[in-house]
Amino acid sequence: MVNWGIIGTGWIAEKMADDFRRVKGARIVAVAARELSRAQAFATRFGISRAYGSYEQLADDANVDIVYIATPHNFHLEHTMLCLKHDKHVLCEKPATVNAAEFAVMRAEAERRRLFLMEAFWTNFLPTTQKALEWVRSGVLGRIELIQANLGFVMRNDPQGRFFNPNLAAGSLLDLAVYNLNFGRLMAQSLEKSYSITAQMTDRGIDNVDSIQVEYQNGISGLYATSSDALLVNDAYIIGTKGKVIVSDFHMSRRAQLIIGEKVAETFTDRRTTAGYDYEAQSVTDCLRRGLTENPLRTLNDTESSMKLLDAMRQRIGLRYPFEKE
Ligand SMILES: NC(=O)c1ccc[n+]([C@@H]2O[C@H](COP(=O)([O-])OP(=O)(O)OC[C@H]3O[C@@H](n4cnc5c(N)ncnc54)[C@H](OP(=O)(O)O)[C@@H]3O)[C@@H](O)[C@H]2O)c1
Repeated sequence: MVNWGIIGTGWIAEKMADDFRRVKGARIVAVAARELSRAQAFATRFGISRAYGSYEQLADDANVDIVYIATPHNFHLEHTMLCLKHDKHVLCEKPATVNAAEFAVMRAEAERRRLFLMEAFWTNFLPTTQKALEWVRSGVLGRIELIQANLGFVMRNDPQGRFFNPNLAAGSLLDLAVYNLNFGRLMAQSLEKSYSITAQMTDRGIDNVDSIQVEYQNGISGLYATSSDALLVNDAYIIGTKGKVIVSDFHMSRRAQLIIGEKVAETFTDRRTTAGYDYEAQSVTDCLRRGLTENPLRTLNDTESSMKLLDAMRQRIGLRYPFEKE
């Protein structure tokens, strides 16, 4: 049995804890919040045996094998390092860190200690994503020309919250565009060669709308849009000379369609009863049981090159966080 701990009791931690009921060979044994009462309430709600009022106490729990870090991006390095230094494996929420320099630090620590580390790109584990990838790899689409994906929501407009607060590394690029870019790269099966990005910035200096154009090394084009204050049509398209794949609501998808010419050739439906975070948690659990220190579906190299791309894109749009050194 793989024993999990959770650090942070916010929105995503609840989703993960709820979906965990479907994970085999693993259980959540401890949760930590900055205040004990919040950890206790979370533990009661999800049937977790131990609740801690500090993250250090959870990292110190000898009965925890792996910790899921569910805090805002700017704390990922600190909280991941805390766990690694206590010899815990780590699944850290996306983006892994705020920048590539931070990721290099956590990667080196995990590798030095031979511990498992993964950025929580749950979308890679969704059956619809894997089905789309299977269609892409089969060649039925002909020569792939274009990948398109939008992702936009009306986020909670709390000035102190992580969506619009620059001190919590807010902004569409790190919060949302990471999904479009990850999906595009996965389906293109190629790294980026060049790109352009424009952003609409808020009066607090963070990007709430991004328009991104990518040319991949293998010649495929990518076209992506994100918004933190408008609901976009969040579908993704992989378009080839013979057909296309449509992944509905691509970042939480339950349906993918293969269209050849103008006809629907196949429809794939994921009839899950969870939000879908259990696929990722199951895969990580299986990796640990096999003694792996990386997940082949989201490797450390994937994260490293993605963090470098995000750094370069942030530089283009002039997005620098108050806590980042000169
Ligand atoms: N995979 C996905 O689908 C997905 C979806 C949403 C978010 N995420 C990622 O998950 C992370 C958390 O997002 P979220 O939406 O769950 O955020 P959230 O609801 O704001 O929760 C973040 C939690 O972090 C802890 N925290 C520690 N220090 C904090 C501070 N100074 N300010 C605020 N919170 C602090 C808090 O837990 P305690 O007070 O209990 O300690 C808080 O509840 C982000 O990196 C985000 O990108 C991923």
